[in-house]
Amino acid sequence: MTQRTLVLLKPDAVRRGLVGEILSRFEAKGLSLVALELRTIDAEQADAHYAEHVERDFYPPLRTFVTSGPLVAAVLEGDEAIEVVRALNGATDGRKAAPGTIRGDLSLSNRENLVHGSDSPESAAREIALWFPALAG
Ligand code: CMP
Repeated sequence: MTQRTLVLLKPDAVRRGLVGEILSRFEAKGLSLVALELRTIDAEQADAHYAEHVERDFYPPLRTFVTSGPLVAAVLEGDEAIEVVRALNGATDGRKAAPGTIRGDLSLSNRENLVHGSDSPESAAREIALWFPALAG
């Protein structure tokens, strides 16, 4: 089934010059770009995006990190796009993510793990509406 998913290339990806490399992996897989924007977010947008994590111990430094510089927000579309993007991203902790995945090849961190992908159809709908309201619906 064709799906859309919200992807963030976090500030570490922009700082490290990995935006092209990461987008290339999604494009090479066959996913299509529906929306793409460089954006610097404030704490309010970070809290809205990570609403399910705001009470967690790891959240305050995560908020500092995701607001620390520009990130790239994108909507990708394709067959089973939500699962496909999560497989390409790899496990959350870059130290444990499998080689061949974005995090496994390019990240050594649990926090600065380069990418975010929606984790379910419900999350994708919520996150796409939050980041790209014109696409909601
Ligand atoms: P993401 O896929 O964007 O979803 C939640 C984010 O929180 C995750 O990627 C990491 O950036 C961060 N995260 C999750 N668990 C931890 C943790 N234990 N320590 C630090 N950061 C974390």
